[in-house]
Amino acid sequence: MKILVTGGLGFIGSHTVVELQNEGFDVVVIDNLSNSSETVLTGIENITCKKPIFEQIDLREKRAVQKFFQKHSDISGVIHFAASKAVGESVENPLLYYENNIHSLVYILQELQQKNEANFIFSSSCTVYGQAEAMPITENAPIQPAMSPYGNTKQIGEEIIIEVCKVSNINSILLRYFNPIGAHSSAEIGELPIGVPQNLVPFISQTAIGLRQELSVYGNDYPTPDGTCIRDYIHVVDLAKAHVIALQRLLQKKNVEKVETFNLGTGTGSSVLEVITAFEKVSHQKLPYKIVARREGDVVSAYANTDKANRVLGWKANSSLEEALESAWKWEQKVRL
Ligand code: UD1
Repeated sequence: MKILVTGGLGFIGSHTVVELQNEGFDVVVIDNLSNSSETVLTGIENITCKKPIFEQIDLREKRAVQKFFQKHSDISGVIHFAASKAVGESVENPLLYYENNIHSLVYILQELQQKNEANFIFSSSCTVYGQAEAMPITENAPIQPAMSPYGNTKQIGEEIIIEVCKVSNINSILLRYFNPIGAHSSAEIGELPIGVPQNLVPFISQTAIGLRQELSVYGNDYPTPDGTCIRDYIHVVDLAKAHVIALQRLLQKKNVEKVETFNLGTGTGSSVLEVITAFEKVSHQKLPYKIVARREGDVVSAYANTDKANRVLGWKANSSLEEALESAWKWEQKVRL
């Protein structure tokens, strides 16, 4: 079966392509290389002994999307990762985010809705919950007003999919990720942020390798046990496997609703200081850091209730925080040394 993975050369996308190919799927990747590199194809091939078909397409170009679906009329499912994801950048340039994240989604759905049946997996985020009132967060927690244009594109994306699925033959699963980290155990693929990383773990590994002087910890006066924010860090390979399971659910018509939503996390919250300590343990070195002011827009705590994914998908995150950090460190060393 042929599966389209948009953004398939990005961080989560590339790990998902590996898991799909491991399960015997034929994969076609669309990527515009705006935040990725063609060399990722070699990494994927080194792991799976198979290179996916690659089409360099910008999904904002409607005509190109139409042409793609004419050429690949036998696509059985789509996993849609392609999107811009930097929160700060989205505040500075909201239209870039609305154009890139929303137009591309609309153009793909327009093509899928012409098919007799279509299966669509959407990359959503726990950011839709904002600061949830109760921890751990279930899928029924209310959606909060978005705190950034990036977050808003995820909420709007979910709404668009729900409305389109109601009136078409498209079935969809919305996957709300908590904080994906780590890299493939082979260190053939991993996270490659362009410029200064905004996310915690790439900043930590770049500091440990000497690329950054020290980590700034954004606030230690939060109402948490050690005063730093709590997140649910999930190994990217566990996350990638959940995509394959979700896709199989749609392909086998096991879904009970036209649109289903699942949290993907470990179910365990870790503070920033706990992540630093765990990283120091696996890398056998001290990490230089200082406490600075809070970062605007950060929520105090967010970790997942994963019961629904466990029960319905039969999926569970297997890797510990330390294993995920170890893989991130192995990857950083491979890339820089
Ligand atoms: C962020 C986004 C979220 C998005 C996700 C995508 C914000 C507010 N949220 O999640 O919407 O879905 O990225 O990857 O930007 N931290 C430090 N020092 C650093 C970097 C981070 O102390 O240099 C702390 C943060 O304050 C936070 C934790 O580490 O408590 C995790 O931060 P990050 O990796 O940026 O993820 P989120 O903020 O959870």
